Amino acid sequence: DWTAEHIIDELIADVRTQVGDGRVLLAISGGVDSSTLGLLLARAVGEKLTAVFIDHGLLRLGEREQVEAALKPLGVNLVTVDARAEFMAALDGVSDPEQKRKIIGREFIRAFEREARAYGPFDFLAQGTLYPDVIESAGGEGAANIKSHHNVGGLPDDLAFKLVEPFRTLFKDEVREIARLLGLPDHIRMRHPFPGPGLAIRCLGAISEEKLDILRRVDDIFISGLREFSLYDGCSQALAILTPIQSVGVMGDERTYSYTAALRAVTTDDFMTAEWARLPYEFLATMSNRIVNQVHEINRVVYDITGKPPATIEWE
Ligand code: XMP
Repeated sequence: DWTAEHIIDELIADVRTQVGDGRVLLAISGGVDSSTLGLLLARAVGEKLTAVFIDHGLLRLGEREQVEAALKPLGVNLVTVDARAEFMAALDGVSDPEQKRKIIGREFIRAFEREARAYGPFDFLAQGTLYPDVIESAGGEGAANIKSHHNVGGLPDDLAFKLVEPFRTLFKDEVREIARLLGLPDHIRMRHPFPGPGLAIRCLGAISEEKLDILRRVDDIFISGLREFSLYDGCSQALAILTPIQSVGVMGDERTYSYTAALRAVTTDDFMTAEWARLPYEFLATMSNRIVNQVHEINRVVYDITGKPPATIEWE
């Protein structure tokens, strides 16, 4: 594809002109924008790039390993930071969703600053800002946009880097095409959006390792199932939610008192409004069976049939 190849060459030349011999810091979220930017910058400036991936313990099953396996072999100088314990401690006992978001944002900035100082000094901060983020300026769901992504005010003055935003003129589809040419695996390249606060906002009420582990297993069954039955690409976003509702069920001869999991899948063009995805009943039946058979902490599975508005896509 001549056009995208040409754009890649141009972006690389522009980045080199802008940063010269400077060192560049990038936060990797695991989404398509920041991952693609990591690949592009690795080509443009090589070891002058440090990409930091903070594992806040709120990622999905195998996500950290997938990101590492995708980026490291393609030459991205990737630092993975295990910040799980700090995030868990900060979120201990917190059930209010806005509080959770604030804490996660604050902890993210704290961890990111620490790594910036440890590996620095840096001259530039790279962000995967897309054209729609620029016109909205609120940031949208641009996965690498630290400010909007984590709902916090940004970095302190001594870490006030110059910004490198090579994707400022691009749309998501164009980034996906660039990602393909740079060799980003399809499971990341075509991935549904995933919120910065991760599973914390899909685990309703106060979170715990145990609850996150349950949610991770449910989510993995659902998302793997969508891929297996070729339904993934037809949805704009799909997610599992762990509700705090416990109810009576029956398993063999025994009465159970276990959690309710919710599944949600939507179609949308812009994530501002959305329709619930009309997934086949047979598929939903298969998912429900797999979940209750494999995740013993769950005895009830519901599917969300609400549009946005009035509901949001996430449950929080
Ligand atoms: P809602 O739930 O508001 O979500 O309908 C709309 C889209 O935004 C995503 N989302 C986020 N993305 N950081 C993000 O990067 C966040 O804090 C955040 N909160 C919601 C959500 O997954 C959906 O795609």
